[in-house]
Order: sequence, then structure tokens, then C-alpha cells
Amino acid sequence: MLVLGVETSCDETAAAVVADGRRVLASVVATQFELHARYGGVVPELAARRHLENLLPVIQGALDQAGVTLRDLGGVAVTQGPGLIGALVIGMAAAKSLAWALKLPLAGVHHLEAHIAAILLTEEVPEFPLVALVVSGGHTNLYQVRNLTEMTLLGRTRDDAAGEAFDKVAKLMGLGYPGGVVLEGLARAGDPTAFPLPRPRIPEEPLTFSFSGLKTAVATLLKKDPAILRETHSRADLAASFQEAVVECLTSRCGEALRQTGCRRLLVCGGVAANGRLRQALAELSQTEGFQLFLPPLALCTDNAAMVAALGWHHLKAGRTLSLDADVFARG
Ligand code: KG4
Ligand code: ZN
Repeated sequence: MLVLGVETSCDETAAAVVADGRRVLASVVATQFELHARYGGVVPELAARRHLENLLPVIQGALDQAGVTLRDLGGVAVTQGPGLIGALVIGMAAAKSLAWALKLPLAGVHHLEAHIAAILLTEEVPEFPLVALVVSGGHTNLYQVRNLTEMTLLGRTRDDAAGEAFDKVAKLMGLGYPGGVVLEGLARAGDPTAFPLPRPRIPEEPLTFSFSGLKTAVATLLKKDPAILRETHSRADLAASFQEAVVECLTSRCGEALRQTGCRRLLVCGGVAANGRLRQALAELSQTEGFQLFLPPLALCTDNAAMVAALGWHHLKAGRTLSLDADVFARG
């Protein structure tokens, strides 16, 4: 069965066609980076308006790329939340309209569960249970995952998400928005030990993350010595030192979660899982600790609709469908 996936939870308008929850026939993503760059972050109202303009051409683009028409679809899946309400509403309205007009079943997909489901679209599909770290611009959540829809939250961030920390530090360093990937590029030429930055941890909550202190440490450093940004070497050193601190915070919690649960499988997904240094550090940890590591390819880490269609197919197969009065949700 072919499922059309629709994703509009933040600043990416995406549509995909996936066969049997497994094979990606098409995945189209229209980013809005340049629209929000001048504001240094996503402006929700602008994001919603741009989704409205982009969504139908993006859906048509996905159908064309897959070489199918609307009549070939067996179902529609859409991100229901969490995300920006105004942005989610656009995707939901389009998905409901298509489902109603074509008399197709509609599945509502949880965005974070979809990030986890992205791994279903890869060669090596893991068995459950597993520990999953969803690390994106809005979330840094560790889960014990029993199956695609049953999971227990083991730990989360008490302040900024890891991707948010990347974006805020990139902004402090004048690297533009969104900064994660640019900061990673700059860090490649830097020494990760050059600046001693904190690795914030809460001793009584070993699986809780905290990144705002790290961001403040970078801000304080730059206030004291603005010349760091003028020199190519020290700029790269700061980027590398910051990235290393985030990577250590993330990998240490993953190791701890595996120890606590006794689980031997780790999945890391979401936009920050596209970071090369994080992927390398996780691969090293999996070698030394002897657990299986699952990382989606880069295009399936950042927001896309293929992961929505993949999880949607499982919902539809299990009869978990949405009625046409279903609403979107911002949190949860
Ligand atoms: O999952 P995602 O595309 O959207 C959300 O659901 O939030 O994640 C976006 C986040 C942004 O904060 C972005 O800066 C970060 O992922 N990101 C990265 C990299 N690529 C994307 N952070 C570090 N290194 C990267 N290569
Ligand atoms: Zn996401």
C-alpha cells in the first residue's frame, strides 16, 4: 500500500510517498531557511504562510517523483504534533481534504515517534526493545522503546534542546540560522580541547540533559574576549570545543540509559543525529561498550515526510485512523 506522508510541524514543508512503510518512492523537502535567517530563528506566522504556499507543489512534486497519481494511494499520514500550531494546521487541513476527497483512511503521526520510525526505512531495521535518543531543534528525549507506539520517557532536557543550543551558539558566533550544520563545518578545523567548557549534569538525575549553562559559558567567554571570533583558528577551536561538550553530554546519557535498562540496542535520530562528530563518538562508544547502534542516514535525520508515511502505514494497518474533526497539538 502506498502512503502519502505530509510534514509541516516546523520550518520544513515535506511530502513523501512510501510503499508498505518500508520503501521510499519519493521524498521532497522544501526548507524555509532563507525566510527565517534574517530573524535568527523560526517566525511561526511566517512559517505557516510559507507552508500554505509550498505544500500543494511539494505534494505534487512527491507524486511526480514517485511516478504515481493520487488514485494510486492507499492512505494519507500527517504530522499531528508536537510542533508549531499554525504550521501543523496547514498540513492537517491538506491531509484531511485529500483523505476526504479520495475516500482514503487518514493517520495522525506523532513527530518524535516519526523520527524514531525513520530507521524502518533503512537496510538494517532494529529489533525492539531499544533505547532511543531523539535529538532535534525542539527536543532532547531519551526513551525506552517497546515498539513503534509504546515508549517510556527516561530523560529529557530541563532547558534548551541540543539543536537549540547549537543554533543559539551559532548565532552568538555570527554563523547565521540554522547554525548546527554550519557550526559543525567550522568545528572540523578546530581543536576540541582548546576551550574548557562545562558538561552540565544533575547528579541526582543522571538521564536529564541541560544545555543552557553551556550556551551561557560560550556567551561569557565571548563577552570577555570578543577577539576569539576575529581569528580563524580560535573561532574554529570554540566551535569544536562547544560541539565536543554537547557530544559528550549526549553520549554519556546514552551510555547511562543502556546500563540502567540493560538494553543492548541504541537508536539516535532527529536533526542533531546528522552531526558527524556525534555519529563518530557514538560509533566509538558502541565499539567499547559492545551494543548495537542504529543511525538513520542524514536525510532521514532532519525533518522529512518519509518517516511520517512509514509510521502512518503502521497506524493504518492497525486501524488507528483519525476522524475528520481531529485536531493538531503543540506539545505532548
Ligand atoms: O529534527 P529537525 O530537522 O527539526 C526539529 O524537529 O527540530 O532538527 C533541527 C535541528 C536544528 O536545531 C539544527 O541546527 C540541528 O537539528 N542540526 C544539527 C546538524 N544538522 C541539523 N546540529 C548539529 N550538527 C548538524 N550537522
Ligand atoms: Zn523534527
